[in-house]
Amino acid sequence: MHKHIPFNRPFATDTGFVYMQEAMRDMHISGDGQFTHKCHALLEETLGCAKALLTTSCTHALEMAALLLDIQPGDEVIVPSFTFVSTVNAFVLRGAQPVFCDIRADTLNMDESLLTGLITSRTKAIIPVHYAGVGCEMDEIMEIAARAGIAVVEDNAHGLFGKYKGKFLGTFGSMATQSFHETKNFTCGEGGALLINDARYIERAEVIREKGTNRSRFFRGQVDKYTWTDVGSSYLPSDMLAAFLYAQLEIPDQIQSMRQRIWKYYAQHLHGWAEEQDVRLPLVPVHCEQAYHMFYLLMPSLEQRQTLIGQLQAQGISSAFHYLPLHLSAMGQQFGGKPNDCPVTEDVSDRLVRLPFYNSMSEDEQMYVVETIQALNLKQRAA
Ligand SMILES: Cc1ncc(COP(=O)(O)O)c(C=O)c1O
Repeated sequence: MHKHIPFNRPFATDTGFVYMQEAMRDMHISGDGQFTHKCHALLEETLGCAKALLTTSCTHALEMAALLLDIQPGDEVIVPSFTFVSTVNAFVLRGAQPVFCDIRADTLNMDESLLTGLITSRTKAIIPVHYAGVGCEMDEIMEIAARAGIAVVEDNAHGLFGKYKGKFLGTFGSMATQSFHETKNFTCGEGGALLINDARYIERAEVIREKGTNRSRFFRGQVDKYTWTDVGSSYLPSDMLAAFLYAQLEIPDQIQSMRQRIWKYYAQHLHGWAEEQDVRLPLVPVHCEQAYHMFYLLMPSLEQRQTLIGQLQAQGISSAFHYLPLHLSAMGQQFGGKPNDCPVTEDVSDRLVRLPFYNSMSEDEQMYVVETIQALNLKQRAA
């Protein structure tokens, strides 16, 4: 009998259910109740950002960022090609032209050395993605953006509580976005947050998040009635979701140390096999404290990646490839994307496989995954 090892298992705490009941007893289950405020305060205090606002997803936080930057048709936005579609779609929704940047072969993050060559007079923003929760080279990115007068929005969907040179990811750009989707380290099923570091955006962000009204000011007693003041939409999650999330956000060290244990187990036990088989394990630069979001293998070829996924599946283990190059997608091609525009992205996308990784993963489960991988001799198969 095979074990079944899923790729992900959503995480819940007992306290999360207690807090959800509390939210219901309070009879405040719409947005911005006590648990939403607690999440905001916790993120602001821990990370040191000027304002944190929970949203219904990271996608919606990115859409808010595009509205706040006043992105207009024809504006250009530089995004890595190796990312989730929302990183770019949020800006395309406002009429932006995406400009795809390749990634570094080591961290798989936006290659900062290419940025200067991609900036034009129409560039409005650079959107670095901290892939797998490992920081992009933020010193260089911030310097290039400042020199050109361009905004930086960090897509930090993977990187909550990770650090670059001792500073939290999400606190470099004028804004950053978080995801609390069920695949993330901290989750409420579907959810996200907009972190605002440049305080000039706070007041308008509250309005955009509240359907284009000044309702947040009204609830704080700053105006005596609320009205339509700007464009906006509905980006508030229910306080029940915030309650579920808060129970996790208040124990960050516990959650991150579970994930650190899982990551290190894979790294230690797969190191020898990887070396023998010419497989590359994730690389974390010494100046980055990673967020332990995922563990991936870079296989020698597409064929060997598919073999590994198939072998794992045959033993009941779900593994997953990751992003397809955005510049080669149907939409990306409409924006002018062509083969070889981003060669590292194209190569890595074919060869990367993510291993099962979830907070509640036991050592037994991990040992089974590791032993199944170690049983695979790619060199013998190729011979
Ligand atoms: C880099 C990145 N950005 C944004 C998102 C979108 O997150 P959400 O599902 O919270 O909208 C994802 C999803 O996994 C992602 O990987």
